[in-house]
Amino acid sequence: DSNDKFLLDLPKVELHVHIEGTLTPELRWKFAQRNGQVLKLERTGTVYHSLEQLKASYTIIQPRPGHGIDNAEESFTFFEAYYGGFEILVTHQDFYELAMHYFERVAAMNVRHCEPFFDPQGHTRRGVTWDTMMGGFRAAQEVAEKNLGVLASWIMCFLRDLTPQSAMEHYQAMLPYRDMVVGIGLDSDENDRPPSLFADVFALAREAGLHITAHCDVGNKDTHKHIHQVVSTLGGSGAHRIDHGLNAAQSPELLRLIKEKGIPMTITPWGYLRHEPVDEIFPRIRALYDAGICFAIASDDPAYMEDTWILHDMLLVKKMCAFSNQDMATLARNAAEMCWAPEAVRTEIL
Ligand code: HPA
Ligand code: ZN
Repeated sequence: DSNDKFLLDLPKVELHVHIEGTLTPELRWKFAQRNGQVLKLERTGTVYHSLEQLKASYTIIQPRPGHGIDNAEESFTFFEAYYGGFEILVTHQDFYELAMHYFERVAAMNVRHCEPFFDPQGHTRRGVTWDTMMGGFRAAQEVAEKNLGVLASWIMCFLRDLTPQSAMEHYQAMLPYRDMVVGIGLDSDENDRPPSLFADVFALAREAGLHITAHCDVGNKDTHKHIHQVVSTLGGSGAHRIDHGLNAAQSPELLRLIKEKGIPMTITPWGYLRHEPVDEIFPRIRALYDAGICFAIASDDPAYMEDTWILHDMLLVKKMCAFSNQDMATLARNAAEMCWAPEAVRTEIL
């Protein structure tokens, strides 16, 4: 309908998408065939013999431990599925096609600029070189800019379930590719892994002129403590952005702090459906909006969230928060204002 057309036509900036989370079953199957790999789920030893079986596996991803219901023994967690996908990313061509597929998908949704996350530790630990990974991304980024009109800069995330020392080593190893990287993030399993563990490397990155952000996942048991760290101390005086952090909506003190410091947030509605009831999620998103907090809508891990990309997240939030087209235009503009592209690019999108 016409609402869809309005949202489709809005110029978009996507600020919270894990490039590895855009790995569809089709791509995974293709790369595995090409590289002669068997597709299997490590923990259970389940082997996928066809694309159809692999596709079915994407629909039974369980909520993460500690969230929601646990049922079938054969089910697996989001992280098992997500890191399972990493296994088939081996060659320059794999990384190139992964990124190119994302750029093509979102070009069709009028995305003009994006800042995808990547998780180098998930690749180096399997023996993939930085040149393979970054070379593939760089080649895709150049084609996307030239042929699709989609600009990209990358946010390197540290896996918070690994050590601060590993994060520091990866920070140093990234420096030869510094021109591609606009910021540093923090992702993976947040349970008992506060942002403060990574204080040193975030401070170093910030001093070096990189932007910094960190995930505060919805429903984490320490979420208010973690949001407070990200907002007030990460990198010395607080991050430039916060990823998720939706539970701040329950804390007047955090809302005030976020607003005062002008720290914008990225919100990825589809993913939250796995963790919290609908009537907890959308009133909180609405509350952030009504409190005048700047946030942007994004897709997070589209391939692992029923194939929902940024446009679908925008449609969902419009409907469930009863946002007007004008509100949606505001959210799209927020993303352009929040982004870490050079001023010239930002004003062009705005
Ligand atoms: N949360 C934390 N880390 C992640 C996610 C997520 O949803 N997706 C990819 N890495
Ligand atoms: Zn994320």
